[in-house]
Amino acid sequence: MTALRGKVALITGAGSGVGRATALRLAREGVGVGLLGRRPEPLQETATAVRRIGGQAVVLPADAADEVAVGTAVAQLAGDLGGIDALVYSAGVGLYGPVEHYSLTDWQQTFATNVTGLFLCARAVLPFLRRRGGGHIIAISSGAGRRGYANLAAYSASKFAVIGFMESLAEEVGPDGIKCSTILPGSILTDFGPSTRAEKRASGKKYLDPEDVADAIHYLLTQPDHAWAQQINLWPF
Ligand SMILES: NC(=O)c1ccc[n+]([C@@H]2O[C@H](COP(=O)([O-])OP(=O)(O)OC[C@H]3O[C@@H](n4cnc5c(N)ncnc54)[C@H](OP(=O)(O)O)[C@@H]3O)[C@@H](O)[C@H]2O)c1
Repeated sequence: MTALRGKVALITGAGSGVGRATALRLAREGVGVGLLGRRPEPLQETATAVRRIGGQAVVLPADAADEVAVGTAVAQLAGDLGGIDALVYSAGVGLYGPVEHYSLTDWQQTFATNVTGLFLCARAVLPFLRRRGGGHIIAISSGAGRRGYANLAAYSASKFAVIGFMESLAEEVGPDGIKCSTILPGSILTDFGPSTRAEKRASGKKYLDPEDVADAIHYLLTQPDHAWAQQINLWPF
């Protein structure tokens, strides 16, 4: 995927944060973007921003953990833009608090979005990548996908699962020209989790910008065919 112009990427979580920044970063390079998320309004807003810079966007309101909705969204994107070359799985939810306070529903919803959704989206796009003779699947894990933190057990477990899934998938589909890469970012200045962007900014702590992660995604997609970055650890500095 070294030359990006004319390629098509499905981006989940595209209504905000890293997903939105990635849609704009790739659209600027001439990539047609499919924007998937549950709420249509933020997706429409991202699509408007993409079109304002001359890009092509397809709005795909869907729950990434809904098998039927994902299948429909992927088929619509491939139909509208003529195929799919990449998946950027940025949809994610965070559950914070001590394990004894988690409800089973909270636990299951964390895994549904962070892990099951990745599986469903990857499985749905793979036939389209194969039709192109290759492609790239990129998932956003977390620093919490390498070590556990107190009050983050469900989130951390789900992000460890993302890494295991992506390592296995890479072995399966790499021989077919499909690269699988995972980004493990530290804290990012978005509305993710219990504090808003404004609260994070006011905290004085160090954060990545969502555009930093979008730049890493652009880097992954523009490596030559013979080079594969499997993981990127990206920290605020
Ligand atoms: N922010 C951080 O500090 C940080 C650090 C490390 C890793 N990450 C990871 O980075 C990724 C992006 O997070 P972000 O910071 O950009 O947060 P964000 O702005 O909250 O973005 C998450 C996006 O995921 C979408 N989403 C949630 N559940 C979904 C579902 N079931 N189906 C489809 N879309 C869903 C949300 O939109 P809807 O609610 O409309 O569906 C939202 O647009 C996440 O995977 C997160 O775990 C974040």
